[in-house]
Amino acid sequence: MLQVINYPHPALRHQSKPVRRVDKTLRQMIAKMFELMYEHRGVGLAANQVNLPLQLFIANISGERDSGEELVMINPVIQSPKGTSEAEEGCLSIPGVYGQVVRPEQVHVMAYDLSGNKFDRVVDGMLARVIQHEFDHLQGVLFPDRMSEAAKRAIGDELEAFELEYDNLLRQDEGLSAEAVAKRLAELEAEYC
Ligand code: NI
Repeated sequence: MLQVINYPHPALRHQSKPVRRVDKTLRQMIAKMFELMYEHRGVGLAANQVNLPLQLFIANISGERDSGEELVMINPVIQSPKGTSEAEEGCLSIPGVYGQVVRPEQVHVMAYDLSGNKFDRVVDGMLARVIQHEFDHLQGVLFPDRMSEAAKRAIGDELEAFELEYDNLLRQDEGLSAEAVAKRLAELEAEYC
């Protein structure tokens, strides 16, 4: 079943495709994404991070199952960025690594939930940051890509450790190769996109 994949798994660099079909399996996968997000103490999780090629992410900035607002954002669009804000970010796919990221303070977000209801809201603060971080995932962008060169150098050794670990795993599991991952993602795209 689904699990959170770590940098530099190739699915994290995949350009997600719009979702055209929602079925029982996809609903189950989204329920599992919420489980994984809470288990890993995250506030957002994008489809790429569980090796799915779909334009969807989930979020709950409370980080707790029974509080806050659980958001499922399918085929999201972000418009009208305003202002700038800098804050520290982390990512469930690069656990333990943090860095300062500058982003627009406010954005207009449109998306659909699992029932086809439209989310159409101007958001700011932490929710705006989480939504932009997750939206980036869908384009294959990770938060270090948004960091200054100096800040990125400061986490260079940590990222390299993840790269070495992935190389080790790859030697034991051919399913982690770029070709195998691309094949799996293409099969899922054929089914849902
Ligand atoms: Ni992330």
